[in-house]
Amino acid sequence: MKIVVVGSGGREHAIALQLARSPRVSEVISAPGNPGMSRLGACWPAISKSNFTEFVQRCSEESVAHVVIGPEAPLVDGLSDLLRAAGIPCFGPDSKGALLEGSKAFAKDFMQRHEIPTALSSTVDHVDQLPAALSTLPERVVVKASGLAAGKGVILCEDHQQATEVATGMLNGALFGDSGKTVVIEEMMEGPEVSILAVVNGEDALLLPPAQDHKPLGDGNTGPNTGGMGAFCPGTFTTAEDLDLVRRTIVEPSLQGLIKDGIDYSGVLYVGIMWTQEGPRVLEYNCRLGDPETQPVLLRMKTDFVDLLEATATSGPSTASIQWDPRSALCLVLASDGYPENPGKGQLISGDLFSEIDDDVQVFHAGTRFAETGEVVVSGGRVLGVTALGEDLEEARLKAYSRADQIHFEGKIHRSDIGAYRWNAGPIPSES
Ligand code: AMP
Ligand code: GLY
Repeated sequence: MKIVVVGSGGREHAIALQLARSPRVSEVISAPGNPGMSRLGACWPAISKSNFTEFVQRCSEESVAHVVIGPEAPLVDGLSDLLRAAGIPCFGPDSKGALLEGSKAFAKDFMQRHEIPTALSSTVDHVDQLPAALSTLPERVVVKASGLAAGKGVILCEDHQQATEVATGMLNGALFGDSGKTVVIEEMMEGPEVSILAVVNGEDALLLPPAQDHKPLGDGNTGPNTGGMGAFCPGTFTTAEDLDLVRRTIVEPSLQGLIKDGIDYSGVLYVGIMWTQEGPRVLEYNCRLGDPETQPVLLRMKTDFVDLLEATATSGPSTASIQWDPRSALCLVLASDGYPENPGKGQLISGDLFSEIDDDVQVFHAGTRFAETGEVVVSGGRVLGVTALGEDLEEARLKAYSRADQIHFEGKIHRSDIGAYRWNAGPIPSES
């Protein structure tokens, strides 16, 4: 069967690799893909709202068995709706369900209505409403652009004065354009963060092994927030009891809420959680797999990813018997200097970017492209995700870092403490 993967990042490369390993898949097509994904099958043009119809038609003509949509934008814009209407199975919710990510205001309202634990918040769409909104909140708050902002639209503020300045910049369009025209302001929570990736169809959910992301740019969790500078799986502070608590208090009420709201949700529900003193509370929902979390999570998947796609589209994801490698996996992101604000682009990348030296270490492409000379150059902020499996987290870490040392480009930056530092809780104690 032919499968199309929509997207061009490290997450999509990891999905494509996992699909290419399936004996049932004849071709993994990428749209648009990247140099790493191009080795697994054809690359189709990039997709945007303006060419959805042509894309769906081409999938029909080429008898594509499944479309996996990686990033949020095509989901929010309704690509799944069109694919399903054309009878093409697809992995990703319809545009109504994708609003959980596409509108933070919608997500907060949803959580309040369905009593899902989250930060106290207020939604505003005019600067005049700011004083009243802030008066209901503690001094330290987080100001969020409601619309999609590529992971950058969240600003932590130490006091109401800063929050007022930031929110004003969002509301008048200066900071994030239309995405900031509505703003959510919420209490600042504290605690370690964990990403829960649930594969969902209606009431049925399969929780993937929990992963831990590292959002801030710098070592020790300093500097601006990014899309994620590295991730590992399994996370260090989630026990089976913790996961059960998340399932009962967050995932199941969310799925019930979707059903009550008449939203037929199928695909991934990613719940970003902060483990506060009062227990797990939702930071955000995403309607797709996390990046970079997917890179270490999928490297641990031992069974056929197609089984999961098929079960999700039919009898429900929990009916697929998915097995996981008991080892740990870690992804180190190599970024281009200037990321996240203004990353350098166009630098030549040297080192072995393709061969699988061993199955346990993968170099996932994210911000790369082929230059006209055929060489691979930097095309985006997060350039590569070097991902390794190891007997324990420390071994996975050493393997990823040593492979990353063999790759060079001008302005290469990375954190030196992925897997050694956790959010707000300092260095991770040694596992021995
Ligand atoms: P979001 O896109 O809403 O997940 O926010 C991005 C990041 O900002 C999260 O991963 C957290 O690190 C941080 N953040 C968001 N909301 C809060 C909050 N209410 N309290 C503390 N940190 C937050
Ligand atoms: N790594 C965070 C995200 O995918 O949203």
